Amino acid sequence: MRVRRCAIVTIEPRERLAFDLALVVEGGTGLHSVVEWAASAPHVDEEIVLTLEEVALLGQLSPSRWSDFEELASVHSRDVLESLVHKRLLVVEAEKESVREQILRDTHWRPASAAMHYASRWRGIDTQLMEREFKEYAQSSVLAQLGPPPPPVRERVPAEQRTALPPAEPTPFDALLLKRVTCRNYDRSRELALADFSSVLFRTFGARAVVETAPGVRLLKKGVPSAGGLHPTEAYLLVQRVEGVAPGLYHYHPVDHALEPIRALSADEATELARRFVAAQAYFVDAHVMVIPASRFRRNFWKYRNHAKAYRALTLDVGYLSHTIYLSATELGLAAFITAAINEIDIEEAFGLDPLEEGPLAVCGFGIRAAERKEVEFDPLHAVWPD
Ligand SMILES: Cc1cc2nc3c(=O)[nH]c(=O)nc-3n(C[C@H](O)[C@H](O)[C@H](O)COP(=O)(O)O)c2cc1C
Repeated sequence: MRVRRCAIVTIEPRERLAFDLALVVEGGTGLHSVVEWAASAPHVDEEIVLTLEEVALLGQLSPSRWSDFEELASVHSRDVLESLVHKRLLVVEAEKESVREQILRDTHWRPASAAMHYASRWRGIDTQLMEREFKEYAQSSVLAQLGPPPPPVRERVPAEQRTALPPAEPTPFDALLLKRVTCRNYDRSRELALADFSSVLFRTFGARAVVETAPGVRLLKKGVPSAGGLHPTEAYLLVQRVEGVAPGLYHYHPVDHALEPIRALSADEATELARRFVAAQAYFVDAHVMVIPASRFRRNFWKYRNHAKAYRALTLDVGYLSHTIYLSATELGLAAFITAAINEIDIEEAFGLDPLEEGPLAVCGFGIRAAERKEVEFDPLHAVWPD
């Protein structure tokens, strides 16, 4: 059997609190601190605790060369080698784990970026539950715990030394920007018009041209910029209430401007999935459509290989996409939101996305704003809500 070390693994010396009933019996709180080496490797998808011997041996094994296990065992501890195979950080040639691990190599991730991406994915997180628990356990308010935030502006010189700029002449664009208010109140009683649904998707994700810049290299021209013109981020949709579109999961085809059905859902199933996608933020669940920007890593990293800025570029692309959803929806008298507090793993599973190939980076949504405000929105200028 031949083995090699996985290409991407990060190891963190970590201290965590653990609970031990025996300590309660002795009269304590049961809590004690554990200091350990915590490894994460994207192809494993769960955290791995290592011994010091395993950490030391990992540092001596080649990630590029396949080695005969018996030869390695004649030089290093067999027990430690076997444990590393068991923990899947040493992958065995031709086995499922090494095939999965090869996908990461072929994708050309920058290791530090991969570590960040894969370590930040959630499954089944309920942010409302977390908030309630925080309130129960915290002795004081959030503000008292955190202290005041840094000031809103960093001032580099005293006011009298600043050069005043002329005011921006109001244009319809200003009016549009003013009306953009993150929506947390959607109208459950109405369906979104198909034309509006379609327009927001086209303006944000639709390709206006496909240009072959070299044989086999096709770039898309869209209404939003994208690093290298690659547009690796595509839209996955959870449709709840759109005229003529059955509730369900879809993929938007940006060149054909068409929906690709993935799974039909009952209204209840759609609501439950929506809740899970946004980590139980109830105020977003009723959005008529959720749009999940999911990036195809290989397409971006094909050009930006093992590149220090590539992952940052992906996340910046998502910023343009989400803002264009906001503005397109607002222009049509609709409303939108974005959230980064999302259950990526639940989303991947629902749409059948392989996390080594494609990853959701946010959840956006849009629809018709309710007539009544039940949840808070940030509208200090009364652009949307009169009072
Ligand atoms: C990257 C990003 C993540 C956000 N995540 C959340 C979120 O998890 N929950 C939420 O209610 N709003 C979220 N928002 C919306 C902000 O709360 C909102 O933009 C802010 O309160 C300002 O309000 P405005 O968008 O109406 O100007 C997010 C916004 C951005 C840009």
